[in-house]
Formats: sequence, structure tokens, C-alpha cells
Amino acid sequence: MSRSAHPAGPRHADVLPEGHYSAPPADLNHLEPGVWSRTVARTPEGAVTVGGLDVRELAEEFGTPAYLLDEADFRARCRAWRDAFGADADVFYAGKAFLCRAVVRWLNEEGLNLDVCSLGELTTALAAGMPAERIAMHGNNKSTEEIRRAVEEGVGRIVLDSFQEIARVAHIARELGKRQRVQIRVTVGVEAHTHEFIATAHEDQKFGLALAGGGSRPDAAGGPAAEAVRRVLQLDSLELVGIHSHIGSQIFDTSGFEVAAHRVVGLLRQVRDEHGVELPEIDLGGGLGIAYTADDDPREPHEIAKALRDIVTRECESAGLTVPRLSVEPGRAIVGPTAFTLYEVGTVKPLEGLRTYVSVDGGMSDNIRTALYDAEYTVALVSRASTAEPMLTRVVGKHCESGDIVVRDAFLPADVAPGDLLAVPATGAYCRSMASNYNHALRPPVVTVGDGAARVILRRETEDDLLRLDVG
Ligand code: LLP
Repeated sequence: MSRSAHPAGPRHADVLPEGHYSAPPADLNHLEPGVWSRTVARTPEGAVTVGGLDVRELAEEFGTPAYLLDEADFRARCRAWRDAFGADADVFYAGKAFLCRAVVRWLNEEGLNLDVCSLGELTTALAAGMPAERIAMHGNNKSTEEIRRAVEEGVGRIVLDSFQEIARVAHIARELGKRQRVQIRVTVGVEAHTHEFIATAHEDQKFGLALAGGGSRPDAAGGPAAEAVRRVLQLDSLELVGIHSHIGSQIFDTSGFEVAAHRVVGLLRQVRDEHGVELPEIDLGGGLGIAYTADDDPREPHEIAKALRDIVTRECESAGLTVPRLSVEPGRAIVGPTAFTLYEVGTVKPLEGLRTYVSVDGGMSDNIRTALYDAEYTVALVSRASTAEPMLTRVVGKHCESGDIVVRDAFLPADVAPGDLLAVPATGAYCRSMASNYNHALRPPVVTVGDGAARVILRRETEDDLLRLDVG
């Protein structure tokens, strides 16, 4: 899914097998800035540190596999997003990327809002003290229980995703004697340049209400989205505050957002013309890409903020509309680069003429993204430096499945051996949050490092945790 896919010339072996790899890096000990969290460094003695702490000691204390999350980097990224968008816009961190109570507290302290999409995420947010009015509730099939809890707690907005849900939320809000602020999620018909499973704005998928579908103007007009606006405006228990669009994930350029903003503003104009109301909010969702490998070149929050603001302002001015309050929902771009997964090598198996399989003590249960999206990652030997020749490896997990790949094509020093520690960077987003108990694996802990101290914020599962659920 990274954009890197360069066949390399032969180097270590006479003929290298097919794969998506660049030529071996000049220095295997190098840690590419931007791919690794900001406080990661290699000491002159060779081991890697994060937040000033040696990974060998961290492995000793917390075990492997473990996600090591750089709190200072997380907070710095929150501030960069908040400052880039300024006081007249809102940044909602997308909790699905990674959520636990410590993260909620950091978000709260750094002035970010939170997007949740399930009762579990909502409960975590509330348990850690996020004010309900700073929470947005998403989901294409929210249960009655989820809606009821969100309305009761007074979440700032519920993002409506279907006609049935409009009726459900209106009904529950009426029952509770509340007027719920809502946005309508629209599909703008943009093909995001990303993996099919994480593209969300083309029409043939489950999210949102299509803008297109009726009338003569394909960019807004009489499609389901316009019909949804009509219905919501008729319901006293709902207050329509804006339109929401999320076009997909791991996107590098803002052209998709440009088309989305153009079409959303088309709907806002139509709403004004038809109903005499100017909706005060527009949310352009999340989806901004990060660097998984050195070939990925993501844009900085201030560049993204400027591009999105300019687009929305231009579109609104040309439509004669007051510029609405803008919000965005980055998840991966905040937490993704702040963590790496630390593994211990268990076996090293050379396959003659092919590559060497290096097995680590985790795998698809702690990072499903390689198997699911063909995602590309890098990996480094972090318990020591090495001057050995580069060797083409495939870093695999310990699960009973040949698709259990952590890094498909990786150059590691040829002397990599059992007991070495490897780290895979950029695993802060959608790794712990999509982790599973496949093969009854125990999900790894998330350990934060900051100010020279390490702290578990999500503990490792235990066999007791597994057995507690098994009540048969
Ligand atoms: N807002 C909405 C409405 C979303 O659905 C999402 C992600 C986001 C914001 C945050 O997107 P981000 O900035 O993190 O890309 N499991 C996939 C990603 C699924 C994203 C789902 N929605 C992956 O591992 O790449």
C-alpha cells in the first residue's frame, strides 16, 4: 500500500526473487527519520533507544512483542494539528486508530476532540474524562444502545449514515427529551488512490448517503444526501449542523479532498436555496497518509490545513455562502508514526535461492495490515548494530498460516540470529486496535516512553484473560 515498489538489481544472491523492495539500503543501521518516532536514536554502542531508554532494557522489563509508544511525539503531533487548524476549526482524533484512557487524557490536555465509532470507544472516552460535547459518534450501523448512550451523554454530534438511522436517532432523542446535534455523512463519488478496503467515498460501498443520484447536477442535486437533509430538517429532535465526508485512508495528495469539498459545498448551496438555511459545519474526515517506508512522503499538518482551508473558502465564496466551521479527523497521521513494535527473533531459516525467513514472536495477531492490505513496512535490528552484508528476508510471525507476514521484503544484516530484537516502525495506528487473539495469542502491551521513564498504558493479555471469557 505504500507507493514503493521498486524491483532491485541482484546484489546479495545471484538472482533476487520477485518482490516489492528497493535496493538494499547503504547502511542497515540507519533509522529513517519520519518513519521512526522522533525520540528514537541509535547509540554509538549500536543499540536503539526511544525516549532515552534502551530497547534491550525495555524488552527485559515488558517482554516482547510490545508496542512502544513515544508520548512526546504523540503530543507534539496533536499540537501540530491543533495549531495548524487554529481556533476556528476543530481537530477530532479518530479513536479507531488507537484508543485507551491515557490517549484520551493526552488528547484532552492537548485540546483535541475525539471521533468514536462504537460503544466501546465511547465508553473509553467518557471513562477517561473526555467531555461529551467534544465527542463525535460515527458508524454505519449504530445500535439502539449506542445511539441511546450517545444521546443521553450529550455527545457533540452524531454523524448520520442512513435513512433508518435518521429515524432511529430522532426517535431516541425525542424519547429522551433532547435535541441532538447531527451531521449527515455523504459519499461524494471520489475514487481515493488507496487500497480498496480503505477507500470510502466511491459510490459502491457501505458508508454514507450519495450526493449523486437525482436531478441534472451530478455534484449535489437530488440524490439520497439531499433527501436526508430534507428529512432531518423536518425533525424537531434533530439539529442539523453540517455535512460530513471521509474519502478514505493513507492518502498523500489533497486533490481528492478538493473534489469532496467542491461537492459538499454544492450540497450546502442547494440546502440554502431549497430550505433557506446555511449549515454551519463541514467535516472533511481523516485519511492523511504517513511514511511507512522511506519512499512515502507525507505532507505536514500546516500544509494540509492550508490546502483544506483554501479549498473550502474558495468554494464557499464562489457559492456565495458564509464559510462554515471546518473540522478534520486524523487518526493514523497522529498516532501512526509514534509507535514501533518490538519483537524477538526466534528462528532464522534460509531458503536456498529464495530468501531467508526470520520468525518473530508476534505476527498477524498484532499487525494484520500486511496480510489484509498488502501494507509495506520496514524493519531494523535494534538490539545491536551490525556490519554484516544485507540479506533479503521475510519477517514472519508465529501463527499457523503462511500469510502471517509482518514485513514482506526486508533487508536485514546477514548475521541476524535468534535472540536479536527487531523493531517495525509506524505501527501506532490500526495495529493494536486491530489486534486479535488468533491462535489464542495474547495481545501485546502498549508501553509509553517519555521523560526517561516507561509505563504500561495497556497491559499484555494473560492466559487468565483468555480463560475468563471462556465460560463453557
Ligand atoms: N474519520 C472517519 C469517518 C473514518 O472512517 C476514519 C477511518 C477516520 C476518520 C480516520 O482515518 P485515518 O486518518 O486514520 O486514515 N484499518 C485501516 C484504516 C481504516 C480506516 C477507517 N476509517 C488501515 O489499517 O489502514
